[in-house]
Amino acid sequence: MKKTIFKWAMLSVPALVTAGCATYPDEATTRQIAEKMVITSFSTTPETAKRLAQDASQQICSKIGDAKLTEADAAEVIKLARASIKYPQSGKLVGDWKVGDKLAHDGAGDRIRDGELEKRKENGALCQNCHGLAPDEINVGNVGPSLTGYGAQRGNSEAIAKYTYEKIYNAWAYFPCSNMPRLGATGHLTQEQIAHVVAYLIDPQSPVNKK
Ligand code: HEC
Repeated sequence: MKKTIFKWAMLSVPALVTAGCATYPDEATTRQIAEKMVITSFSTTPETAKRLAQDASQQICSKIGDAKLTEADAAEVIKLARASIKYPQSGKLVGDWKVGDKLAHDGAGDRIRDGELEKRKENGALCQNCHGLAPDEINVGNVGPSLTGYGAQRGNSEAIAKYTYEKIYNAWAYFPCSNMPRLGATGHLTQEQIAHVVAYLIDPQSPVNKK
């Protein structure tokens, strides 16, 4: 008798587990719930709401859990990124390295304070927050690779200027879903500002390329 009860009990375990699993929402619903949780955890003002809205590539990059970026997804993010890139009207991708120097070290801009966008004359380029720049600088971040000696190592050919401009405009054109912000595509930097930062990285006179 005891044995039979045990057997029935064992048989009902998988049934219970299956029933339990079946009550989990599917991926799309899980995503909706998660996004709602994130949005409602902020005191939403029009400014924060704008920031929380994900564009098509961000949606691809925000995979749930450990889901890997598929090759097709990566190709789509690269395609969208390439399509987003705009070049300065002047056609000049390399501006003034001195202006670029100031911008690269300005780690502020587009900040929201008390629900309002902080008012500044222009946004900083934020590079210093994540990258080593001129040699001997200590107050720099290391989220991204060091850019010290960038132009000294790669030169300042048209191809390098173009790569650098595009990388800053939309980093995902070369590395889909990376942690580098899409500074031109999001409107954080203007095309002219980006050209100045390009000069700061590749001009032989720039401190980045001095020993
Ligand atoms: C929030 C951090 C962050 C900020 C801000 C940032 N980057 Fe990056 N950057 C990264 C990361 C992470 C990588 C590596 C992944 C990739 O290539 O996208 C990277 C890669 C790069 C590369 C490619 C390096 C190579 O070897 O070709 C360049 C060039 C670059 N960043 C320049 C800049 C410049 C210039 C700025 C400022 C305008 C900037 N980054 C701002 C995080 C950042």
